[in-house]
Amino acid sequence: MKKTRNPFQHLAKALALLTLLIVGSSYFQACKHEPIIPDITDTTGTDTTDIIIDTSAVDTTSTPPQSLCDPDSAYFVQDILPIFVANCATSGCHDAATHEEDVVLDNYEHIYDEIDPYDLDNSVFKLIIEDNNSNRMPPSPMPRLSAMQTLAIANWILQGAPNNSCEEPVFTCNTTNVSLSATVYPILQNYCIGCHSSSNASGGINLSTYNNLKATALDGTLFGSINHSSGYVAMPQGLPKLNQCSIDRIKSWIDAGAPNN
Ligand code: HEC
Repeated sequence: MKKTRNPFQHLAKALALLTLLIVGSSYFQACKHEPIIPDITDTTGTDTTDIIIDTSAVDTTSTPPQSLCDPDSAYFVQDILPIFVANCATSGCHDAATHEEDVVLDNYEHIYDEIDPYDLDNSVFKLIIEDNNSNRMPPSPMPRLSAMQTLAIANWILQGAPNNSCEEPVFTCNTTNVSLSATVYPILQNYCIGCHSSSNASGGINLSTYNNLKATALDGTLFGSINHSSGYVAMPQGLPKLNQCSIDRIKSWIDAGAPNN
């Protein structure tokens, strides 16, 4: 099952990332007219460090303990699985019940079956970066994966597609300087938007436009669902509960009045 390591992987990785940066910037061009939350375009793949780690738990304002997670690594549990669960393993597509085209993308073993480690020349990745909207995955009208998500998947495949995990410890958590664009939206993008976009508003909840998100934040359903409070449906569906730092930081943004900052 385990495939051999490509000796040219470093060169291949550099070329692939370069290509993705170019493709990635055109994604954002194409998205200019979408009613998405502003300012996230500032994080376009110029700094790959920001792309592959969950920075939500890292305190950048004081002198925190060193991050335990390698900033150059993509972690399957935190960075990759949420993308597949929210965008691919949905009902009618690649969940276990539907298994469209015999492809199931709901856990590590199933996802690993569909890709070739160290090699971006495989069908799943090619479909993700496909230009033609009617051939690409996820198919239209589902939104295209973002450049950040695409880069994270590329990075993970080029690391050999390990079943790895890294969680920042809670004591590095800073809940004082949270903003929608830098803190909250990246978490939602990774764990929620695939199931809660304008074209796929599961349960009638659309988290991809500011006004809808704000309403969900201010009426308590956003926090109730991610905190697994009684009376709310626990989110993210099909995934483990968000780490406590992410929950605390979203709570802090909600308590500040859910500003569009
Ligand atoms: C795999 C798809 C999926 C993912 C991922 C997902 N959701 Fe949901 N969400 C749903 C579905 C389906 C419902 C409707 C559930 C129901 O009504 O039983 C729902 C309902 C909700 C609700 C309404 C809850 C209530 O009690 O009324 C909120 C709020 C919500 N989701 C927020 C989120 C957030 C925030 C995330 C990310 C942390 C997330 N969801 C991730 C599918 C998903």
